[in-house]
Amino acid sequence: MLQIEKLNQFYGGSHILRDISFTAAIGEVTCVLGRNGVGKSTLLRCLMGVLPIASGQITWQGQVVNSLSPHQRVQRGMAYVPQGREIFARLSVEENLRMGLARFRGAKGRQIPSSVYDMFPVLAQMRHRRGGDLSGGQQQQLAIARALVSEPSLLILDEPTEGIQPSIIKDIGHVIKQLAARGDMAIVLVEQYYDFAEALADRYVVMARGEVVQAGAGQAMVTEGVRELLAI
Ligand SMILES: Nc1ncnc2c1ncn2[C@@H]1O[C@H](COP(=O)(O)OP(=O)(O)OP(=O)(O)O)[C@@H](O)[C@H]1O
Ligand SMILES: [Mg+2]
Repeated sequence: MLQIEKLNQFYGGSHILRDISFTAAIGEVTCVLGRNGVGKSTLLRCLMGVLPIASGQITWQGQVVNSLSPHQRVQRGMAYVPQGREIFARLSVEENLRMGLARFRGAKGRQIPSSVYDMFPVLAQMRHRRGGDLSGGQQQQLAIARALVSEPSLLILDEPTEGIQPSIIKDIGHVIKQLAARGDMAIVLVEQYYDFAEALADRYVVMARGEVVQAGAGQAMVTEGVRELLAI
């Protein structure tokens, strides 16, 4: 389980994350929702260790990871798909995927598991293409696949539907559902696309101005007025 307790973060003098607390369980999709600029990506960067936190505690599988580097967090089974994907445009699809294998040594560190190609067949067809030549949706699939080859038990996704065509959004939603159903992975999904989040969330967390303003069960998103909350 991932436990976040009273996380605070500042950019210069601006207080961006204010006492953020929530948990994300294995086998569940925890959706973090919120309008532009509320601090969702900042939260994920803190979780992954890309950005240091000012105070608070991040515990993953019973261990406090606050002082670990991003690389060490990957070693402990955390994987991150950043907003905007950040794939390597000049490297091939296969080479991009191999970057995700950095966690492993020996033969395992070189062999891309066929399961990712089963999950994203388009990547198999395009394995020798350059990342930069893929469509936005294909790049998003590549970014998710690159995270998955590290065999994470915590998958952190930052707005995977942003700027992506509907058919690929559907495919990505299907993959996230499948991963959650396996029951061995916690998924933290940041989204602004309400319908996508509602379809996937086991738990939801709404942020506004750097704070958690509401949280609950995914099934209760409609009755608890989450859509309206995001529209305000
Ligand atoms: N490197 C930075 N330096 C200073 N301020 C920043 C920096 N990055 C983000 N901010 C500010 O921090 C706040 C939170 O940004 P963040 O990117 O975490 O929001 P977000 O919820 O992910 O937004 P979006 O939905 O648009 O992706 C915003 O006001 C943003 O302008
Ligand atoms: Mg963001």
